[in-house]
Amino acid sequence: MDLRDPSKRPRGTPFPSQGDALPMPTFETRDGGACRTTRSAELQRGSGAIVSAMTSAPWYVEAFRSDYREVYAHRNLTAAREEVRWLTEDVLSGTRGVVLDDCCGFGRHSVAMSERGLDVVGIDLSFDLLRSARELEGESDAAALLRGRLAQADMRALPFADGAFGAVVNLFTSFGYLGDEGDAQALAEMARVLAPGGTLVMDLMNPAAIRRGLVPSSREERDGMVLEAERRLENGGRRVVKEVRLTTADGAERSWREEVRMFEPDELDERLLALGLRVERRAGDFSGERFDPAEAARQIVVARA
Ligand SMILES: C[S@@+](CC[C@H](N)C(=O)[O-])C[C@H]1O[C@@H](n2cnc3c(N)ncnc32)[C@H](O)[C@@H]1O
Repeated sequence: MDLRDPSKRPRGTPFPSQGDALPMPTFETRDGGACRTTRSAELQRGSGAIVSAMTSAPWYVEAFRSDYREVYAHRNLTAAREEVRWLTEDVLSGTRGVVLDDCCGFGRHSVAMSERGLDVVGIDLSFDLLRSARELEGESDAAALLRGRLAQADMRALPFADGAFGAVVNLFTSFGYLGDEGDAQALAEMARVLAPGGTLVMDLMNPAAIRRGLVPSSREERDGMVLEAERRLENGGRRVVKEVRLTTADGAERSWREEVRMFEPDELDERLLALGLRVERRAGDFSGERFDPAEAARQIVVARA
């Protein structure tokens, strides 16, 4: 597909801009079909309230602000292109319909998957990150394809119809943030929006490898910025907590906490099965290498609806 051909580009709502009300995701698929959204007005307003009604924002709101991209500069489009290679050439190659990038951040995997011809829609809670997706237009022609296709939404209440997607991907440890109930809701939502036969890909930490290799503290200086992190395990080794302090070149300081519940392979399989999803494969990295529980860097789960 010639990505520069305007007639091939999807139509949709524009990227969110500062001051917009929560944008309403009304997408059309690349072939002109419908990727229907339902319940969107209520749920969009509802999910906004989850955040704004809180007196202090939860960690997953504080952590993913606009400086996230500078702090984690290596989590960029170049890395995402590598990360989606095996996914698009193998796991998602037979996908029929639209792919949902659930927790898309600033859309790096959405863009990388679009470059490879997939029809992608993304949602994320972070307005700052969604807004910065525009910056990828300088790096990829495909980024323009994502205009109007990245929306602010809460993964616990996806504003899409049942079975709307041929595949759902949840990449780079974007699960395990929301407490027992919230995590269960988020997983149920991924299952709900998958079409029968659709594919779910979750890219999570491998708990055994994290427990073995946890670095208790680190300090990194880069481009005049200092990033200090303390890490520990809690909850019987099931949760990783990271306290981060960032000092920018102008001396400004910002601290936040990251707190992620890890999932053992068996536990995840059971939860997915209860939602009608069967785990077909588990890889240990983005090359598709077999998952070795003792060694694997990642836990990449491929399940079928
Ligand atoms: C580790 S980042 C990964 C982002 C992206 N997948 C990537 O690889 O660049 C986790 C993402 O989850 C998003 N997130 C956290 N809680 C969320 C929620 N309840 N609903 C939707 N997105 C959420 C954050 O805003 C953040 O962009």
